[in-house]
Amino acid sequence: MTRFKDKHIVITGASTGIGRATADLIASEGGKVTLLARRPEILTQAVEKIQTAGGIATSFAVDISDKAALIDSLDKAALTQGPIDGLFVNAGTSGAFAPLGSYDDALFEDVLRTNLISPFWAIKHVLPTMIERKQGAILVTGSLASERGMANNAGYVASKHAILGLSRATAIEAAPHGVRANCLIPGFIETPLMGNIDDAIAAQLCSKIPQGRMGSAHETAQVAAFLLSDQASHVTGQSWAADGGVLGGLMV
Ligand SMILES: NC(=O)c1ccc[n+]([C@@H]2O[C@H](COP(=O)([O-])OP(=O)(O)OC[C@H]3O[C@@H](n4cnc5c(N)ncnc54)[C@H](OP(=O)(O)O)[C@@H]3O)[C@@H](O)[C@H]2O)c1
Repeated sequence: MTRFKDKHIVITGASTGIGRATADLIASEGGKVTLLARRPEILTQAVEKIQTAGGIATSFAVDISDKAALIDSLDKAALTQGPIDGLFVNAGTSGAFAPLGSYDDALFEDVLRTNLISPFWAIKHVLPTMIERKQGAILVTGSLASERGMANNAGYVASKHAILGLSRATAIEAAPHGVRANCLIPGFIETPLMGNIDDAIAAQLCSKIPQGRMGSAHETAQVAAFLLSDQASHVTGQSWAADGGVLGGLMV
Protein backbone atom coordinates (compact mmCIF):
# COMPACT_ATOMS: atom_id res chain seq x y z
CA MET A 1 0.00 0.00 0.00
CA THR A 2 1.15 3.57 -0.63
CA ARG A 3 -1.45 5.48 1.39
CA PHE A 4 1.23 7.86 2.67
CA LYS A 5 3.31 8.39 -0.47
CA ASP A 6 5.08 11.80 -0.23
CA LYS A 7 3.27 12.63 3.04
CA HIS A 8 5.33 13.88 5.96
CA ILE A 9 4.05 12.56 9.29
CA VAL A 10 5.56 13.73 12.60
CA ILE A 11 5.08 11.41 15.57
CA THR A 12 5.84 12.24 19.19
CA GLY A 13 6.63 9.37 21.54
CA ALA A 14 7.99 7.40 18.58
CA SER A 15 10.89 5.63 20.29
CA THR A 16 8.76 2.72 21.57
CA GLY A 17 5.23 1.35 21.77
CA ILE A 18 2.31 2.77 19.79
CA GLY A 19 4.27 5.71 18.32
CA ARG A 20 7.08 3.51 17.04
CA ALA A 21 4.69 0.93 15.58
CA THR A 22 2.84 3.75 13.79
CA ALA A 23 6.09 5.17 12.42
CA ASP A 24 7.07 1.71 11.10
CA LEU A 25 3.66 1.21 9.49
CA ILE A 26 3.43 4.65 7.87
CA ALA A 27 7.00 4.43 6.56
CA SER A 28 6.20 1.00 5.08
CA GLU A 29 3.37 2.67 3.16
CA GLY A 30 5.50 5.37 1.56
CA GLY A 31 5.35 8.09 4.22
CA LYS A 32 8.25 10.29 5.31
CA VAL A 33 8.24 9.97 9.08
CA THR A 34 9.86 12.15 11.72
CA LEU A 35 10.26 10.46 15.08
CA LEU A 36 10.41 12.56 18.26
CA ALA A 37 11.20 11.30 21.78
CA ARG A 38 13.87 11.84 24.42
CA ARG A 39 16.25 8.87 23.98
CA PRO A 40 18.55 9.49 20.98
CA GLU A 41 20.07 6.01 20.79
CA ILE A 42 16.66 4.30 20.54
CA LEU A 43 15.50 6.84 17.97
CA THR A 44 18.61 6.20 15.88
CA GLN A 45 17.95 2.45 15.96
CA ALA A 46 14.32 3.03 14.94
CA VAL A 47 15.31 5.26 12.02
CA GLU A 48 17.99 2.81 10.85
CA LYS A 49 15.47 -0.04 10.91
CA ILE A 50 13.02 1.95 8.77
CA GLN A 51 15.75 3.01 6.34
CA THR A 52 17.06 -0.55 6.05
CA ALA A 53 13.55 -1.62 5.05
CA GLY A 54 13.59 1.07 2.32
CA GLY A 55 11.60 3.73 4.18
CA ILE A 56 12.24 7.43 4.72
CA ALA A 57 12.74 8.56 8.31
CA THR A 58 14.54 11.04 10.49
CA SER A 59 14.46 11.76 14.21
CA PHE A 60 15.12 14.49 16.73
CA ALA A 61 15.72 13.82 20.40
CA VAL A 62 13.56 16.20 22.41
CA ASP A 63 11.82 16.45 25.74
CA ILE A 64 8.40 17.64 24.61
CA SER A 65 7.74 19.29 27.96
CA ASP A 66 10.38 21.88 26.97
CA LYS A 67 8.43 24.29 24.76
CA ALA A 68 11.38 25.86 22.95
CA ALA A 69 12.94 22.47 22.22
CA LEU A 70 9.63 21.07 20.98
CA ILE A 71 9.02 24.01 18.61
CA ASP A 72 12.62 23.79 17.39
CA SER A 73 12.21 20.07 16.61
CA LEU A 74 8.98 20.70 14.68
CA ASP A 75 10.71 23.42 12.65
CA LYS A 76 13.69 21.15 11.97
CA ALA A 77 11.32 18.37 10.90
CA ALA A 78 9.63 20.66 8.36
CA LEU A 79 12.98 21.94 7.08
CA THR A 80 14.31 18.40 6.68
CA GLN A 81 11.31 16.53 5.25
CA GLY A 82 8.95 19.28 4.03
CA PRO A 83 5.64 20.67 5.30
CA ILE A 84 3.94 18.53 7.93
CA ASP A 85 0.93 16.65 6.51
CA GLY A 86 0.18 14.67 9.64
CA LEU A 87 0.91 15.29 13.31
CA PHE A 88 0.51 12.39 15.72
CA VAL A 89 0.75 13.83 19.23
CA ASN A 90 1.23 10.59 21.07
CA ALA A 91 3.94 10.92 23.76
CA GLY A 92 2.55 10.54 27.22
CA THR A 93 3.39 9.82 30.81
CA SER A 94 1.31 7.85 33.27
CA GLY A 95 2.26 9.85 36.36
CA ALA A 96 1.93 7.98 39.63
CA PHE A 97 -0.81 6.25 41.55
CA ALA A 98 -1.78 8.11 44.73
CA PRO A 99 -5.01 9.13 46.45
CA LEU A 100 -6.18 12.61 45.43
CA GLY A 101 -5.64 13.94 48.96
CA SER A 102 -1.94 13.18 48.76
CA TYR A 103 -1.35 13.49 44.99
CA ASP A 104 1.82 15.53 44.59
CA ASP A 105 1.20 19.07 43.24
CA ALA A 106 4.36 19.17 41.14
CA LEU A 107 3.65 15.75 39.64
CA PHE A 108 0.10 16.80 38.71
CA GLU A 109 1.53 19.81 36.85
CA ASP A 110 4.20 17.65 35.16
CA VAL A 111 1.65 15.14 33.90
CA LEU A 112 -0.52 17.93 32.49
CA ARG A 113 2.50 19.59 30.90
CA THR A 114 3.52 16.40 29.02
CA ASN A 115 0.06 15.02 28.22
CA LEU A 116 -1.89 18.22 27.52
CA ILE A 117 0.06 21.47 27.41
CA SER A 118 2.83 20.18 25.14
CA PRO A 119 0.26 18.77 22.67
CA PHE A 120 -1.39 22.23 22.73
CA TRP A 121 1.96 23.85 21.85
CA ALA A 122 2.56 21.36 19.05
CA ILE A 123 -0.92 21.71 17.52
CA LYS A 124 -0.81 25.51 17.87
CA HIS A 125 2.52 25.59 16.02
CA VAL A 126 1.59 23.24 13.17
CA LEU A 127 -2.07 24.10 12.56
CA PRO A 128 -1.66 27.54 10.85
CA THR A 129 0.47 26.01 8.06
CA MET A 130 -1.99 23.13 7.65
CA ILE A 131 -4.83 25.65 7.37
CA GLU A 132 -2.84 27.71 4.87
CA ARG A 133 -2.23 24.57 2.78
CA LYS A 134 -5.87 23.50 3.25
CA GLN A 135 -4.81 19.99 4.22
CA GLY A 136 -3.61 18.09 7.23
CA ALA A 137 -4.49 15.52 9.84
CA ILE A 138 -3.89 15.76 13.57
CA LEU A 139 -4.22 12.80 15.88
CA VAL A 140 -3.79 12.85 19.65
CA THR A 141 -3.51 9.83 21.91
CA GLY A 142 -6.10 9.69 24.64
CA SER A 143 -6.92 6.72 26.84
CA LEU A 144 -9.81 4.87 28.41
CA ALA A 145 -9.14 7.60 31.00
CA SER A 146 -10.37 10.13 28.39
CA GLU A 147 -13.82 8.59 28.67
CA ARG A 148 -13.98 7.15 32.20
CA GLY A 149 -12.77 8.02 35.70
CA MET A 150 -10.19 6.00 37.59
CA ALA A 151 -9.21 6.04 41.27
CA ASN A 152 -5.79 7.25 42.45
CA ASN A 153 -4.68 8.59 39.08
CA ALA A 154 -5.95 12.18 39.03
CA GLY A 155 -3.22 13.75 36.86
CA TYR A 156 -3.50 11.14 34.11
CA VAL A 157 -7.32 11.10 34.05
CA ALA A 158 -7.54 14.90 34.00
CA SER A 159 -4.94 15.18 31.23
CA LYS A 160 -6.52 12.47 29.08
CA HIS A 161 -10.03 13.93 29.42
CA ALA A 162 -8.60 17.33 28.46
CA ILE A 163 -6.71 16.10 25.41
CA LEU A 164 -9.92 14.65 24.01
CA GLY A 165 -11.44 18.12 24.46
CA LEU A 166 -8.43 19.73 22.78
CA SER A 167 -8.76 17.41 19.78
CA ARG A 168 -12.47 18.17 19.43
CA ALA A 169 -11.89 21.92 19.73
CA THR A 170 -9.18 21.64 17.05
CA ALA A 171 -11.44 19.56 14.81
CA ILE A 172 -14.34 21.99 14.82
CA GLU A 173 -12.14 25.04 14.29
CA ALA A 174 -10.08 23.40 11.53
CA ALA A 175 -12.83 21.54 9.66
CA PRO A 176 -13.82 24.44 7.37
CA HIS A 177 -10.15 24.69 6.31
CA GLY A 178 -9.72 21.06 5.21
CA VAL A 179 -7.85 19.95 8.33
CA ARG A 180 -9.02 17.03 10.49
CA ALA A 181 -8.35 16.18 14.15
CA ASN A 182 -9.21 13.01 16.06
CA CYS A 183 -8.40 11.25 19.32
CA LEU A 184 -7.13 7.68 19.43
CA ILE A 185 -8.25 5.75 22.52
CA PRO A 186 -5.98 2.77 23.22
CA GLY A 187 -7.38 0.22 25.64
CA PHE A 188 -4.89 -2.05 27.40
CA ILE A 189 -2.00 -2.31 24.97
CA GLU A 190 1.21 -4.29 25.49
CA THR A 191 3.86 -1.55 25.47
CA PRO A 192 6.62 -0.44 27.85
CA LEU A 193 4.10 2.00 29.41
CA MET A 194 2.19 -0.98 30.83
CA GLY A 195 5.41 -2.03 32.57
CA ASN A 196 6.25 -5.62 33.27
CA ILE A 197 3.00 -6.56 34.92
CA ASP A 198 3.02 -10.04 36.38
CA ASP A 199 0.92 -12.87 34.96
CA ALA A 200 -1.73 -12.76 37.70
CA ILE A 201 -2.42 -9.05 37.18
CA ALA A 202 -2.38 -9.50 33.39
CA ALA A 203 -4.94 -12.32 33.69
CA GLN A 204 -7.16 -10.19 35.94
CA LEU A 205 -6.95 -7.31 33.45
CA CYS A 206 -7.74 -9.54 30.49
CA SER A 207 -10.82 -10.89 32.27
CA LYS A 208 -12.27 -7.34 32.05
CA ILE A 209 -11.62 -7.06 28.31
CA PRO A 210 -14.47 -8.51 26.21
CA GLN A 211 -11.95 -9.90 23.70
CA GLY A 212 -10.11 -11.51 26.63
CA ARG A 213 -6.69 -10.15 25.71
CA MET A 214 -4.62 -7.00 25.55
CA GLY A 215 -4.02 -5.29 22.24
CA SER A 216 -0.68 -4.98 20.47
CA ALA A 217 1.09 -1.78 19.45
CA HIS A 218 0.74 -2.86 15.82
CA GLU A 219 -3.05 -3.28 16.08
CA THR A 220 -3.27 0.19 17.61
CA ALA A 221 -0.99 1.62 14.93
CA GLN A 222 -3.37 0.32 12.25
CA VAL A 223 -6.10 2.57 13.67
CA ALA A 224 -3.74 5.52 14.08
CA ALA A 225 -2.56 5.20 10.47
CA PHE A 226 -6.15 5.04 9.21
CA LEU A 227 -7.09 8.21 11.10
CA LEU A 228 -4.00 10.00 9.75
CA SER A 229 -4.65 8.85 6.19
CA ASP A 230 -6.92 10.24 3.48
CA GLN A 231 -9.06 7.11 3.89
CA ALA A 232 -10.48 8.91 6.95
CA SER A 233 -11.25 12.07 4.91
CA HIS A 234 -14.76 12.49 6.44
CA VAL A 235 -13.73 11.53 10.00
CA THR A 236 -13.04 14.44 12.34
CA GLY A 237 -13.83 15.37 15.96
CA GLN A 238 -14.02 11.68 16.92
CA SER A 239 -12.65 9.56 19.72
CA TRP A 240 -11.81 6.17 18.23
CA ALA A 241 -11.09 3.27 20.56
CA ALA A 242 -8.89 0.24 19.93
CA ASP A 243 -9.78 -1.50 23.18
CA GLY A 244 -11.08 -5.02 22.54
CA GLY A 245 -14.60 -3.88 23.45
CA VAL A 246 -14.00 -2.34 26.88
CA LEU A 247 -15.85 0.95 26.28
CA GLY A 248 -18.67 -0.87 24.51
CA GLY A 249 -19.79 -2.61 27.68
CA LEU A 250 -20.01 -2.33 31.43
CA MET A 251 -16.59 -2.36 33.11
CA VAL A 252 -17.51 -4.79 35.88
N1 LIG B 1 -0.21 1.12 26.50
C1 LIG B 1 -1.45 1.36 26.89
O1 LIG B 1 -2.14 0.46 27.37
C2 LIG B 1 -2.03 2.74 26.75
C3 LIG B 1 -3.37 2.90 27.13
C4 LIG B 1 -3.94 4.15 26.99
C5 LIG B 1 -3.20 5.22 26.51
N2 LIG B 1 -1.90 5.04 26.17
C6 LIG B 1 -1.17 6.20 25.66
O2 LIG B 1 -0.45 5.86 24.51
C7 LIG B 1 0.63 6.79 24.35
C8 LIG B 1 1.89 6.02 23.99
O3 LIG B 1 2.20 5.15 25.05
P1 LIG B 1 2.71 3.66 24.82
O4 LIG B 1 1.73 2.76 25.44
O5 LIG B 1 3.11 3.45 23.42
O6 LIG B 1 3.97 3.63 25.83
P2 LIG B 1 5.53 3.81 25.62
O7 LIG B 1 6.03 2.72 24.75
O8 LIG B 1 6.10 3.98 26.97
O9 LIG B 1 5.65 5.16 24.80
C9 LIG B 1 5.69 6.44 25.39
C10 LIG B 1 6.48 7.30 24.42
O10 LIG B 1 6.44 8.65 24.88
C11 LIG B 1 7.77 9.16 24.90
N3 LIG B 1 7.82 10.21 25.90
C12 LIG B 1 7.37 10.17 27.16
N4 LIG B 1 7.59 11.34 27.78
C13 LIG B 1 8.20 12.14 26.86
C14 LIG B 1 8.71 13.46 26.89
N5 LIG B 1 8.63 14.22 27.99
N6 LIG B 1 9.28 13.97 25.77
C15 LIG B 1 9.37 13.22 24.65
N7 LIG B 1 8.92 11.95 24.57
C16 LIG B 1 8.34 11.43 25.66
C17 LIG B 1 8.65 7.93 25.19
O11 LIG B 1 9.95 8.06 24.68
P3 LIG B 1 11.27 8.46 25.50
O12 LIG B 1 11.19 7.77 26.81
O13 LIG B 1 12.38 7.99 24.62
O14 LIG B 1 11.21 9.94 25.59
C18 LIG B 1 7.93 6.88 24.35
O15 LIG B 1 8.36 6.96 23.00
C19 LIG B 1 0.71 7.59 25.64
O16 LIG B 1 0.12 8.85 25.44
C20 LIG B 1 -0.15 6.77 26.60
O17 LIG B 1 -0.73 7.55 27.61
C21 LIG B 1 -1.29 3.82 26.28
